[in-house]
Amino acid sequence: MNYRHAFHAGNHADVLKHLALARLIALLARKEAPFAYLDSHAGVGLYDLQGDAASRTGEWLEGIARLWGAADLPAPAADYLRVVRELNADGRLRHYPGSPELARRLTRPQDRLLLNEKHPEDGRLLKENMAGDRRVAVHLGEGWHVPRALLPVAEKRALLLIDPPFEQADEPERCAQALQEAIGRMRQTVVAIWYPIKDLRQLRRFYQDLQKSGAPTLLRAELYVHPADEAQRLNGSGLAIANPPWGLEEELRQLLPWLAGRLAQSQGGWRLDWLIEEQPAAAKPGAQVAGRKGRKG
Ligand SMILES: C[S@@+](CC[C@H](N)C(=O)[O-])C[C@H]1O[C@@H](n2cnc3c(N)ncnc32)[C@H](O)[C@@H]1O
Repeated sequence: MNYRHAFHAGNHADVLKHLALARLIALLARKEAPFAYLDSHAGVGLYDLQGDAASRTGEWLEGIARLWGAADLPAPAADYLRVVRELNADGRLRHYPGSPELARRLTRPQDRLLLNEKHPEDGRLLKENMAGDRRVAVHLGEGWHVPRALLPVAEKRALLLIDPPFEQADEPERCAQALQEAIGRMRQTVVAIWYPIKDLRQLRRFYQDLQKSGAPTLLRAELYVHPADEAQRLNGSGLAIANPPWGLEEELRQLLPWLAGRLAQSQGGWRLDWLIEEQPAAAKPGAQVAGRKGRKG
């Protein structure tokens, strides 16, 4: 396990992932009932952009730094930017929230956070960073076991982020398996899988695996900072989101073009479509009523 997220914290991929995560949490919080946030590959939770790792790559300069002073923020970006600003109250961008800290700050007293990180040192830091919040449980186990170990949850509502390093060849396949398992154990789980856009051939296979997962619906949101077909670099990233709450698609349709304009390094772009579309009610086994129903968050 060589990957350390500190080198990449706050880059364009983190911005896409964390913006979407902030919206997912906000949309789930429209209902008073509690939900559980699960993070299978959580990282350390909080990053120092002036620290050695982030300074060495400077990736955040082409990510969060480009949003930091933006005067034309679309409304759905507000919660995410508010958290980043809270962490940098002196007005200098230095501290960046990983998914655990973002979720910790955006969830409510009745929600729970179940975080998992396998790297022993990162796991220790994660525990330290989350200390004192009784809603948070940190596990130091295998991320791929999270669906079977933690689902279903008592709350009956869950948001699972699957965000592996994508350094091992089998990780796309494992993401699809984890999605299938999560949906099998709790069908209504909202699952967000982050993935890099590097190798289009591999991606096509990944999409096909995701489409076989059995998820009721699966939304694909992608952001490119270079043309998607340029070889051997991170041209962008995507999120496959199972059971997205109602309203997310419209918000992403507003956010993605704006992000593509802000974060493009050569030629920016975006895509938003359904890998699995909702089945009309009449086609569902046992359905009594014909016609299309809206999804509820
Ligand atoms: C992309 S980073 C996570 C970033 C984090 N989700 C965020 O948005 O702030 C991936 C993390 O997965 C951890 N990791 C790698 N393999 C793992 C595994 N098999 N199980 C759990 N964690 C793993 C790495 O140590 C790393 O911290």
